[in-house]
Parts: sequence; C-alpha cells; structure tokens
Amino acid sequence: MKDRMLSGIKPTGQLHLGSYIGALRQFVNFQDDFEMVAFIANLHCITVPQDPQTLQKNLRDCVALYLACGLDPKKSIIFLQTDVKEHAQLGYIMCCHTYMGELNRMTQFKDKAAKGEASLSGGLYTYPCLMAADILLYDPKYVPVGDDQDQHVELCRDVAARMNNRYGQELFRLPEAYNPKVGARIMSLQDPLHKMSKSDGINRGCIYLLDPLDEARKKIMTAITDSIGHVHYDPENQPGVSNLMTIMSALSGQSLADIEKDYEGKGYGEFKKGVADVVCDQLNTIQQAYQKVISSDILRDVLEDGARRASAIAGPKLDLVQRAIGMEILDR
Ligand code: AMP
Ligand code: TRP
Repeated sequence: MKDRMLSGIKPTGQLHLGSYIGALRQFVNFQDDFEMVAFIANLHCITVPQDPQTLQKNLRDCVALYLACGLDPKKSIIFLQTDVKEHAQLGYIMCCHTYMGELNRMTQFKDKAAKGEASLSGGLYTYPCLMAADILLYDPKYVPVGDDQDQHVELCRDVAARMNNRYGQELFRLPEAYNPKVGARIMSLQDPLHKMSKSDGINRGCIYLLDPLDEARKKIMTAITDSIGHVHYDPENQPGVSNLMTIMSALSGQSLADIEKDYEGKGYGEFKKGVADVVCDQLNTIQQAYQKVISSDILRDVLEDGARRASAIAGPKLDLVQRAIGMEILDR
C-alpha cells in the first residue's frame, strides 16, 4: 500500500510562486508515489479578517490552481476543509491537549504579535492546534510544506506523542515535515531577506500564479540585486541574486552550479531575462490550464468526491480519539 502525504494551503490571498515551489508543486510530484491528500484550508483563512467575496474567489481559484498545476483528482484527495467537519472538532480536542507555553513559542504568531498588530484573533493563536488536527486525522507519513511550517509540524508531533502516551495507544502516527530540496523558502523580490508572501498584498516582491505575464516579467526585471555584478549563489552576501537562482533552479531543474556557469561574465540584465523566461513559461502553462478548469464545472464534482473520500478516513479517526478520551457514551 502507498504511504500517505498530506498538506494544505490557506488562500488568504492569491497563490504565488512561493506557495507553488514550496508546496503545491511537491503535491503534484508526489501524487504517483504517495496517496496525496491536498485540502484548501478555509478555516485557517478566517484567522485574519477576510472580505467574504474576495475569500470566495480566492478559494475557487485555489481549487482551480490545484488542478491547473497538475493535481489529478483521480489520484489525489482534494477537498475544502469545512466540508469535513472532523477538522474543527479534532482541532478543538487538540487545543485542549496543547499548552499555552507551546503556542507562545510559535514564531509565526510571535512575529505578528511583536509587530504590534492590533486585534490578533484567538483563532490565529490556536491555529497550530487546528493544523495538528488537519494532519493527524489522516495519519500521513510526510507533510510537504515550505520551511516556515516546520515548527507547526514539530508541535503536531509533540502533541500527538503526548496523546498517544496519555491514552496508552497509538492514536496517531507521528508525521514528518518534508521540504523541497530547492525552494523551501522563496524570498520577496523587493526584500530578499523576507519570504515571498501573499499577506503583503499587491506588491512588486510577489509573483502571483495568475499575474499577467508582462507584469510578472516586470517584477523580475526590477527585482533587488546587489552591486557585486556576478551571478553567484551566496544567500548571505547576495540574497537577491541567490533567490532568483533558486527560482530558476526550482522551475527549470538546472543546478545552481550550472546556472552560475551559464551566466559567467554576463550581467544581471541578461540573467534576469533568463529567469523571467523560465517563470513566464511556467505561468503560461498554469494559466492556460486554469482557464480551462475555471470555465468548466468540474470544481463541484472534485470537491464533493474529495470530501466524501476524506470523510471516510477522518470520521473513524475522530471516533477512535473520542472513545480513547472517554467522551463517547453510545455504541455506533
Ligand atoms: P500558505 O499559502 O501560507 O498557506 O502556504 C502554503 C504552503 O506554501 C505552505 O507549505 C508554505 O510553507 C508554503 N510557502 C508559502 N510561502 C512560501 C515561500 N515564500 N517559499 C516557500 N514556500 C512557501
Ligand atoms: N498552516 C499552513 C500555512 O499557513 C496551511 C495548513 C493548514 C497546512 N493545515 C495544514 C499545511 C496541514 C500542512 C498540513 O501555510
């Protein structure tokens, strides 16, 4: 039997090159060798305020992009998180088995709190508990994510081990984060010390998968580099150039060393043009597939079928957990 992989994306905005290289592309690459469970984390979206119409569009686009990027609903289980109610319920149970000290150590929340952002929600604080439930309902071996999510997967393991121990049975398999070899952290094109992120709104540092190609090209041509003038992989001293090399390598399959060789003695202008060609080529393929998907009515069938298959796994798992805890009275 194939091992299982599981991951989700939280479309609080449009998917971008970071979500594609760090996560989505891995789902596609692994769907032949693993049973891939890929969901759209809409419960996680509302941990920060959302405009209802925009959220709906982002969710639809996210499903369509899963398919456009090559996830095959016959091989993979694709669903919307809220269509499988066990997520929220086990999420609550996980909250009750997680210490506040553990949540206080989560860097994603700490960073937001440190920025002095007013009115952070309780949901944002406890979201690693919900994420742990998302994972543990399905007993996956690996969780393919960008490296910003590793800490959350670690917490998930800790709480799973605690519950296995407390209730004296293997309720959950302990999952492992799986980062891509190249591109576990794609940086902003305008601020290469920070990750490319959709939460930054519309900006020139982030390439969205649905950006018009000329806009994507412009963003790459105006990406921040340095005054060294040498195409060389050195994230510490040349973070901008190294980030562009990473993007190129991840998308073309070319090694970093080969890229250095190709651009030896050439200027950044020519290098950026090369990166832009690779990126636009990939975006073009994705966007053509997206147009086909979005103008069909396949989304409903995919989501209904995915939710049915996911529920068949999640339902018995939640029942097992609730019985182990002693919360159930009736036989079913
Ligand atoms: P999110 O869109 O925040 O739900 O993230 C979806 C997935 O994409 C997660 O596995 C993230 O770790 C990954 N991801 C998001 N941004 C980046 C980035 N800039 N570089 C690499 N992976 C990323
Ligand atoms: N927290 C992830 C993110 O923000 C999205 C996510 C939610 C997820 N549940 C998950 C990823 C379970 C992997 C497994 O990127």
